[in-house]
Amino acid sequence: MNKAISGFSKLSKEEKITWIANQYFSTPTEAITLLKNYWNSDEKIQKLHDEFIENTITNFYIPLGVAPNFLINGKYSTIPMAIEESSVVAAAAKAAKFWSTRGGFKATVINTEKIGQVHFIYKGDVSKLNLFFAQHKSKFFSETESITTNMQKRGGGILDIILKDKTDLLPNYFQLHATFETKDSMGANFINSCLEQFSKTLKEEAHSYDLFTETEKEIEVIMSILSNYVPNCIVRAEVSCPIEELEEKHITNPLEFAEKFVQAVQIAEVEPYRAVTHNKGIMNGVDAVVLATGNDFRAVEAGIHAYASRNGKYSSLSHAKIENGIFTFWLEIPLALGTVGGLTSLHPLVKLSLEMLEKPSAKELMQFVAVAGLAQNFAALRSLTTTGIQEGHMKMHLNNIINQFEATDEERVLIQKYFKKNTVSHSAVVTFIENLRK
Ligand code: MEV
Repeated sequence: MNKAISGFSKLSKEEKITWIANQYFSTPTEAITLLKNYWNSDEKIQKLHDEFIENTITNFYIPLGVAPNFLINGKYSTIPMAIEESSVVAAAAKAAKFWSTRGGFKATVINTEKIGQVHFIYKGDVSKLNLFFAQHKSKFFSETESITTNMQKRGGGILDIILKDKTDLLPNYFQLHATFETKDSMGANFINSCLEQFSKTLKEEAHSYDLFTETEKEIEVIMSILSNYVPNCIVRAEVSCPIEELEEKHITNPLEFAEKFVQAVQIAEVEPYRAVTHNKGIMNGVDAVVLATGNDFRAVEAGIHAYASRNGKYSSLSHAKIENGIFTFWLEIPLALGTVGGLTSLHPLVKLSLEMLEKPSAKELMQFVAVAGLAQNFAALRSLTTTGIQEGHMKMHLNNIINQFEATDEERVLIQKYFKKNTVSHSAVVTFIENLRK
């Protein structure tokens, strides 16, 4: 059967669902019922979600959990996390509790500069292009005034624009490389609008620049777009305490624990295979808060991993040391986040998450996100260097296995009781359930 269709986006939601159900499902009515079961009963909320993207057919749930007891810069917060992986929220909550009695987390925003570029081709005398840019630089600012006025009122705007010669990388390739301060907004629309105006100004002014030859006048703009790599938009999160204070149930020898922990971090610093998984653990915390607060986790992911490779080799985002009997564990990550604009005032659960965080500024949100990443990394490394990861992970995963087998309430109680004392594995749970049902 030909499953291609033209004009799909113009169909109504009902029509889209019916078409899909009939094309792809052996029992179309069941598929339709399932899709509709995930619609919100409040039509206004559903309409809002329908309009976030094109061709919405239903909602896709991811749990929103919370990790309480985060003591950050002397203040307690409860952090909302949207994530499907069973052990992440539990690990964050555990790490938060652990550090709350050991001085808490310290978080600092180091800088907040965003970047955007106009990529263009210029075929001609480079010294003339440099002169042209020097003579017209102020025009790029003045011609974007209508876009920048509001941002300037909020204390932001265009910080600088420089001309970059990239001809060593590609023939005739140049850039206008601009830096921005976007205050509490992530700034993507603001930056891209400025860049598109720069591009217009560049082409128009070049056209009427007397010193250029006819060829030089024909500057070709390839594209104008922000960069998700923001190495000057950095937040640092840190925990530290005297080594002896690390002692707790699973840490009976704190010095041994601290040394092993530091070695685990050093391995991630030198070994990319480990660094990727190590950083993935950090991203468990980072992405969950970024998603819950309506920010763009793909942008954050791309930027952070580029930062992890900034010295030419993929490496750990976090670091640890022992100095004068003090254990210190920290990370620094680039984060371009917003607490105004985008989804922040549209998605009801994003609004709720931001209210739970007591309406943070973008800088404060950067701190929450970095702390969640560090907490997650601490929890993972603590498990990995002590009990191993599977104990905690499988305990949390037990519910998923129970649900997979559609256990009754009585079976659930018996399974949970048995696996409190016995090692959880998929096959052990299956055998236990099968025995129960014999
Ligand atoms: C699992 O989601 C994350 C970990 O693999 C991270 C790590 O190994 O550090 C546990």
